[in-house]
Amino acid sequence: IEQHGAFAITPNPAPLSHDARAAQMENPAWGRVFTDHMATLRYSRDKGWHDAKIEALKPLQLHASAVSLHYGVEIFEGLKAYRLPDGGAQLFRPDANARRFANSAKRLVMPELPVDLFVESVRALSQIDRDWIPTADGASLYLRPFMIGTEETFATNPSGAFLYCVAAAPVGAFFSGGAQAIKLWVCEDYTRAAIGGTGETKCGGNYAAGLPAQAEALRQGCNQVIFLDAIERRWVEELGAMNVFFVFDDGTLQTPPLTGTILPGVTRDSIITLARDMGYQVNEAPYAMDQWMADAKSGRLVEAFSCGTAAVVAPISEIKGNNHNFQIGDGTPGAITTRIKTALTDIQFGRAPDPHGWCQ
Ligand code: COI
Repeated sequence: IEQHGAFAITPNPAPLSHDARAAQMENPAWGRVFTDHMATLRYSRDKGWHDAKIEALKPLQLHASAVSLHYGVEIFEGLKAYRLPDGGAQLFRPDANARRFANSAKRLVMPELPVDLFVESVRALSQIDRDWIPTADGASLYLRPFMIGTEETFATNPSGAFLYCVAAAPVGAFFSGGAQAIKLWVCEDYTRAAIGGTGETKCGGNYAAGLPAQAEALRQGCNQVIFLDAIERRWVEELGAMNVFFVFDDGTLQTPPLTGTILPGVTRDSIITLARDMGYQVNEAPYAMDQWMADAKSGRLVEAFSCGTAAVVAPISEIKGNNHNFQIGDGTPGAITTRIKTALTDIQFGRAPDPHGWCQ
């Protein structure tokens, strides 16, 4: 047993062979291939955080009454380790994910994992599974920290016991079809989050509640759903699993503001900073769905893109809906979208300097 900071390491006694790993990493379906190890950490009221481990990836054992299984006591994060030109690797803004994780924990009355322990867990796992960090163009190792309530009770009180875990998956493009532009379905039946709800919390429940809308988007031949606000059903909030940006013909960018109902994306935040560095004006301001359609038709809106850790930056080519059907630009990735994606990924993959000290 070795040690990585707080984490006691028991290496997987039967890791995949070099060839088997290479075969699995060749164009893996997104999020379906996993590395050899996982990190775990437990919390209880009397012991606090304890039992930090890295060991072989294996199924979790839970009592049938564990509160996460019944009441959705679950939060998660997504971040990536990137292969560098010199063969090394780096994480992008793990401290930002750690802070959001702590905020999510607070919202669901879960213990806040200290930022240092969160970062240590993803560092330790990406180090022991470093051979799983892809070298293929645009591919990376997706790290999935999560926490579940494990207290054994059908009572609906806040849990007193928790399991924190990190698993990892080598990934390429999130959308099948690679870098092509995506199509979106405007959902008018369901909303994602209301004021006072869990919209800014990264909890599994948000994604579960969004699934009928996502299923409809897929039936309509679209990649993702656009959610509108819960009160007026008028303002664009975000997509099912990523944030959204608009680009106008005067070179300004706009993205919906963080009012508590929107997931505060680390990629969203990084893009706002990078776009401003590049001299673009970025407005965090509400944008109405009808206005989006009118602006796309008049030519005032020239580009739109979605962004997230999983999706990176994906240009949007077409909107479909019961009341909204339109194209954006000529259907090919726009120049500003491409410029922003390049600036972001050049920092993530260590091809450009990191002026904000985001990488470690
Ligand atoms: C991410 O972009 O990392 C996310 O967490 C979205 C996920 C639901 C695929």
